[in-house]
Amino acid sequence: MAEAKEKRSYETVLAQTENSVTTVTLNRPEKKNAMSPQMHRDMSALLAELRYDDETRVIVITGAGESFCAGQDLKQYFVELDKLPASERDEVKRLSGWRGDGIRNMPKPVVAMVNGWCFGGAFTIITSCDIVIADQEAIFGLSEVNFGFFPGGEVTKVLTEHLQPKHALYYSMTGKPFDGKEAERIGLITKAVPGAELEKETQEVVDSLLEKDPLALQAVKEAWHNSVTAPSPVAHKLAMLIAESVKNKQGGRPGIKQFTDKKYRPGLDSYNWEKS
Ligand code: COA
Repeated sequence: MAEAKEKRSYETVLAQTENSVTTVTLNRPEKKNAMSPQMHRDMSALLAELRYDDETRVIVITGAGESFCAGQDLKQYFVELDKLPASERDEVKRLSGWRGDGIRNMPKPVVAMVNGWCFGGAFTIITSCDIVIADQEAIFGLSEVNFGFFPGGEVTKVLTEHLQPKHALYYSMTGKPFDGKEAERIGLITKAVPGAELEKETQEVVDSLLEKDPLALQAVKEAWHNSVTAPSPVAHKLAMLIAESVKNKQGGRPGIKQFTDKKYRPGLDSYNWEKS
């Protein structure tokens, strides 16, 4: 087994790479991992680093301690940021985009492992991640209405894409917290599991992603996000362009060749991309 390697060090996040998987831990446990301006700076820089890091094929995002992420830092982001010069404010807001396009456009799978509290602005992180596994007792909440606000930033936007209107409006208008099982029921997350199985379940998902051809995974992801954001014919054309570029990079379609050579059954397995 390869040794775990630390990435560059960051003030508010930890990153450790082991066996091609980088685990990113939001690391302000004393503030329930609320997102401060510094966390936005750190996450933005870290994701830029991981994008080009050949040792990282899958990224897992989780939180230190008993919280995944308590949303934006209500003091530092909502109050203190307003006192900074507009240029600094705008820069932090721009960098906070790691939670949206930063994750969606990452050319590698990003999995969220939700280990506890998950509120407000943290919904942008989980809706952007490709796969979300949560402790069934983790608590989720659209608490904005409770502090006299609305699900700002991209939160309302992502809710309209991910939840049925009657689920999204119920939780954003009542501000009621709900658990991991309910998050799974309404389609906010992929799967809720008992806390004791959270790491094991996440590892199983990660292992299955590691078996796949990284280029094919990138293509699946890009085709998906283009289909969400672009009109259907444009999305289809973009997806075809991506599929063609994958074919060119691989020098043909080794996955289909291995099937016709009877080396594997694609309905049940992944082809051996490392030998292609
Ligand atoms: N912003 C800033 N600080 C936060 C925070 C946030 N979103 N969430 C928690 N903290 C801080 C608390 O102020 C407290 O700091 P202190 O020790 O300096 O007083 C510390 O984290 C621990 O929080 P506390 O409330 O004592 O823990 P708890 O276990 O009793 O409750 C929460 C945890 C997450 C339920 C509660 O802190 C909370 O409701 N936070 C706000 C969540 C929210 O509405 N987020 C949406 C923002 S968009």
